[in-house]
Amino acid sequence: GILFNNEDEKEDTSFEKNICRFFMGLFLIFHVFRAEQKFADHMKEKNEASSEFAKKKTLLEQRQYLPIFAVRQQLLNIIRDNNIVIVVGETGSGKTTQLTQYLHEDGYTSYGMVGCTQPRRVAAMSVAKRVSEEMNSNLGEEVGYAIRFEDCTSEKTVIKYMTDGILLRESLRESDLDHYSAVIMDEAHERSLNTDVLFGLLQEVVSRRSDLKLIVTSATMDSDKFAGFFGNVPIFNIPGRTFPVDILFSKVPQEDYVEAAVKQALQIHLSGMMGDILIFMPGQEDIEVRRFFTSLLQPQCNMRLEDLENAPPLAVLPIYSQLPSDLQAKIFQKAPDGVRKCIVATNIAETSLTVDGIMFVVDAGYCKLKVFNPRIGMDALQVYPISQANANQRAGRAGRTGPGQCYRLYTQSAFKNEMLTTTIPEIQRTNLANVVLLLKSLGVQDLLLFHFMDPPPEDNMLNSMYQLWILGALDNTGALTPTGRLMVEFPLDPALSKMLIVSCDMGCSADILIIVSMLSVPSIFYRPKVPSVHCSDQVREKFSVPESDHLTYLNVYLQWKNNNYSSIWCNDHFIHTKAMRKVREVRAQLKDIMVQQKINLVSCGSDWDVIRKCICAAYFHQAAKLKGIGEYVNVRTGMPCHLHPTSALFGMGYTPDYIIYHELVMTTKEYMQCVTAVDGEWLAELGPMFYSIKHAGKSRQVSNILPEYHTQHIQCAFVTLDHKTSHKGQFLKKLRFIYHMKAE
Ligand SMILES: Nc1ncnc2c1ncn2[C@@H]1O[C@H](COP(=O)(O)OP(=O)(O)OP(=O)(O)O)[C@@H](O)[C@H]1O
Ligand SMILES: [Mg+2]
Repeated sequence: GILFNNEDEKEDTSFEKNICRFFMGLFLIFHVFRAEQKFADHMKEKNEASSEFAKKKTLLEQRQYLPIFAVRQQLLNIIRDNNIVIVVGETGSGKTTQLTQYLHEDGYTSYGMVGCTQPRRVAAMSVAKRVSEEMNSNLGEEVGYAIRFEDCTSEKTVIKYMTDGILLRESLRESDLDHYSAVIMDEAHERSLNTDVLFGLLQEVVSRRSDLKLIVTSATMDSDKFAGFFGNVPIFNIPGRTFPVDILFSKVPQEDYVEAAVKQALQIHLSGMMGDILIFMPGQEDIEVRRFFTSLLQPQCNMRLEDLENAPPLAVLPIYSQLPSDLQAKIFQKAPDGVRKCIVATNIAETSLTVDGIMFVVDAGYCKLKVFNPRIGMDALQVYPISQANANQRAGRAGRTGPGQCYRLYTQSAFKNEMLTTTIPEIQRTNLANVVLLLKSLGVQDLLLFHFMDPPPEDNMLNSMYQLWILGALDNTGALTPTGRLMVEFPLDPALSKMLIVSCDMGCSADILIIVSMLSVPSIFYRPKVPSVHCSDQVREKFSVPESDHLTYLNVYLQWKNNNYSSIWCNDHFIHTKAMRKVREVRAQLKDIMVQQKINLVSCGSDWDVIRKCICAAYFHQAAKLKGIGEYVNVRTGMPCHLHPTSALFGMGYTPDYIIYHELVMTTKEYMQCVTAVDGEWLAELGPMFYSIKHAGKSRQVSNILPEYHTQHIQCAFVTLDHKTSHKGQFLKKLRFIYHMKAE
């Protein structure tokens, strides 16, 4: 059947039904769901080879075939003689999988671990898996990985792959990274936010610790810049590439990339050429199998059904960051004999990964980037053309276990003239609140003096500090407050940490802990295959707490708990068991931190208003106000925003005057996701820098709220919240003064 993952929108299903029937008869294979929640658990079996390369050669022969093997000794010499080395090599030459092992073989692991950072989780996990196989050990023993909320290492671990965020957090606990003898910062050219911060921190660590080796791998174009940043350190080039990749450009620009990609994939499929296909799409919506293959049925696609009916089977596997990890792991499993695998991915599969058997890459030429959007005052994912560097990485996913082809669905001239050479570093385009918090807690007083490769724009930094100030993490002078210090302890977004911290005083920390854990995993609800869709929506409504999605989550968790954490119960209620187990793990980990930090666990029992107020205390800056039937506008910006159709508040006939939202998602409209009704007074009380209460016909009276307004929120109709803006200017002015910046 078709996998319907994370189905968000309530849509007409008759079309789905037809499509489903069509494909079930045609070429999709069934996937068996297994019941575990750690990525490592999904990859327990040895990866089965699918290419000739992997089938015919032993693992040792495969290792020795790689370009890096020819320069192994030279590489080790240069590392021995220098503390920092930049390593450059073609995609697939062996940087990620071999460097760690060479260092291990050369004795570096006798006095510490060899760590290797990756910008993405799926890369950290899958590469660790491969290296554990090459070293003939079980994943989690000699070779392990760590990602947020998932530590798959042990006492025995000597080679550790991890996300750059994990190493950054480790440097909080252990500023000299004493557990490591070498750190490889892989895929540095991706310039993720965490990598950029690590650059500055690790450079200092190396200057303090002469026994630590730092190796930075990069694509060719950035290597000089990196070498310069670290003080003209040597650049080592790995010559040669594993297998050739033919690059084929589109002759004309494509109007619809989804349609063009489907067409291209099917052409490859029907051509009879051997090998699996990897398609890059910008976002999850493009990938969700339904949309992707719907476009195939459009008349302009020119695909004749008879052709497809005679074609061999094709297994379509999506991968994107919000997909539960067991489903992500499926892309690495070998398809049954005679079935061609077609992976449809976002840029999470763009770097580092080797999927054995991929011979064809289809590149739509777009990606989604997180960019600070001043209109909504926060980061938003938006679709942009990729950079040349992205394009090369994508092409590099073919040609790893055999010669490959890359079909670019854009013209050569667009590649040369319209695409940036490299993507703008994340640090220059996103909210830095977490980084500011982290650096402040490391004692970096003046962030503008921190050694950044490309410093973030001043305004960006100040805006992030402002957001932290709103949450009470920074004081008026921009210094860390005790709350801010506590917030750093949690591997969460600042607002979520804040919510956990205030929940203790408000007497609902046990409940908020569950809510925060629920918000930290991909979607827990699923909509099953066609016939029972309506039924699943009805079941879902059973959990709904009409005034709050947050409380709905709490309700689901509590009921699951009351049913002894049963997976049967989950299945009966269209809830992902694995996601719920993950929630339970996350809860346990966060609970440990709370205990360490002496934050008591208390439940407010059945008085759930307290919980709503607590949520309001951390999210008052994301509030919306009712305007007309079912329409909301953001209280601070006046921007219209909509309830998401999956919200418990959607279409329930209950439309509270004020709500706060967890996040905004921008698809066709601006949707607020995960929403809770709040009282107007709470907003004024908890977010006094933004709101005060204005009584009809009277002037503003913040301190003079009539008692009955406290008790009867129906009275809110007479109260309008007034949005203040002036304090922001004052705060920023002060910061500019403290940091000796020019006035605006
Ligand atoms: N799971 C796997 N199955 C088969 N071969 C693999 C696997 N993982 C790696 N390889 C082989 O090892 C080679 C090197 O992989 P590695 O990830 O170390 O390259 P890399 O230089 O880091 O590439 P990139 O720049 O794309 O990250 C691949 O080209 C492939 O031949
Ligand atoms: Mg690599």
